[in-house]
This record gives sequence, C-alpha cells and structure tokens, in this order.
Amino acid sequence: MDWGMRNRMARLLPPASGRTVMLAVDHGYFMGPTRRLENVRATIAPLAPHADVLALTRGVLRTSVDPTITTPILLRVSGGATVLKEDLSHEALTTTVREAHRLNVAGVALSVFVGAPHEHESLVNLAQLVEAGEETGMPVVAITAVGKELEKRDARYLALACRVAAEIGAHLVKTYYCDGFDKVVEGCPVPLVVAGGPKLDSERAALELAHDAVAQGAKGVDMGRNIWQSDHPVAMLKALRAVVHDGATVREALDVLEGERARDRAPTPSVAA
Ligand code: 5RP
Repeated sequence: MDWGMRNRMARLLPPASGRTVMLAVDHGYFMGPTRRLENVRATIAPLAPHADVLALTRGVLRTSVDPTITTPILLRVSGGATVLKEDLSHEALTTTVREAHRLNVAGVALSVFVGAPHEHESLVNLAQLVEAGEETGMPVVAITAVGKELEKRDARYLALACRVAAEIGAHLVKTYYCDGFDKVVEGCPVPLVVAGGPKLDSERAALELAHDAVAQGAKGVDMGRNIWQSDHPVAMLKALRAVVHDGATVREALDVLEGERARDRAPTPSVAA
C-alpha cells in the first residue's frame, strides 16, 4: 500500500487502538433536514472534537465546518435519490475523487445496494471509485445500504453484501450490527464498522450495539442518530469512545454517560469577587 493510502487509512482507523468512532452527519443528502440535524453546523460543532472522523457531504463540509478543523473527514460521494421515492438505490457518484483531494479528506464513502433494483449501478460505482482511489491513494468506504427495507439487516444478507463490497476493492466496509454478526466479520477480509440505524429506545441499547459489534470484530462505529438525537450527545459520544477505544463494558460506558450528564447539570461556579 502506498504511503498516502496508508496515511489516510490511519486517519480513518487511528493506530493507537486500531479502532474508530466516526460521527455520521450525512443523512441530509437523501433525508433532508433530519430531526436534530436541521442546523447541521450547530449539531457538529460541540461533537467534532470528540469524534475520530466526521462523515458528511461536500456541501455540509464547505458550508458548515470550519476549514481549520483537524478531525479527519470521510466524504460521502454517492447520491441522487431521496426519501420521496420508494427506491433509494438509484444512486450515482455525485462527487469526484479529484474534489475529495481538493478538500483534503481522509476517505470517500458510497452506498452499495446489494439485491436492490439498482444493485448493478451501485456496484459499478464502487468499482470506479476504487480505481480512482487506488490511483491517487484515497481509501474507499462501501456502505451496505438497505434503503427503506430495514428488515434486510440479517447476517446472511449482510455477510453477502460486505463480502461483495470487499471483493470489488472497498478498503473499509460500513454495515449494520445483527444477530450472528461474527459471521459477517469472518467473511469480510477488510475492516468493518457499524452504523447505528434509527434512534433506539435507550442510550443503553445503542451502547450495547456498539459493545457487541466491537466484541465480535468490528473496528468501531460510524454512528449518527443515536448520538445527535440523544438529549446528551457529547456524553453519548464520550461513552461510545469508552466502549470502542478503552474496552469499557456497557455498565462502565453508562457510568461515563451519567458522569458527563451530571457535569452538564452542575451549576457553573461563579467567579469570586
Ligand atoms: C446515511 C448513512 C449514515 O451515515 C449511517 O446510516 C450512519 O448513521 P446512523 O447511525 O444514524 O444510521 O449512511 O445514509
């Protein structure tokens, strides 16, 4: 692997733990102003210092992130469908690798829709992106998207989708956690991270998901709604870091969460006269 590719991979998967906590804020590209991501700059600002990577589109990067930021960027480069249509798989590459280099990002991400009406196009998009990425040292993250069919998230389907993405040349795969996740990991020769999916019932459930995924071989999370739709997003991100980087149990992560919440609630000490 060339130096540039290795350097970018190390930005996506920091070598200290070999794991990553990516903050996904790219939902607007097909969902519009999602709840608590309406003002994307305001959502990102307090969270960015605690994330290993920010996953977003070029429009949000240019308009809503300060260029002095040092947090590595994973740039979403596929799109072309919205929630207003039934079939979300009709995507194309919407941003070039040349533009990704101009923005100095650590990697590019696209969705692949295995088994969906536009499966073929999305896999060809992946192949073209890998060609351009290999040529210029830009890692490609394949996202095994399921569109509106959330029930597709089982081990048999995800193992197939992740393996196909790795075979075409993805350097990293983002998928979903599921029962039998170890089988998904076993069949995928490149590192995997997991998305959180729609907001779960509790912070405990999201921390359990991250814990179980990492315990079964995921290299971390690329999570969005379960962080920024939480009432305590910074605390939630810190608790996730404890799970992913420090090997915390769910109980220990909940203690981190509670400690951070208590700090949020504590009155600011007044300056002595
Ligand atoms: C949107 C995405 C999201 O980045 C991904 O699903 C992670 O976010 P969440 O944890 O909210 O599911 O790929 O298309």
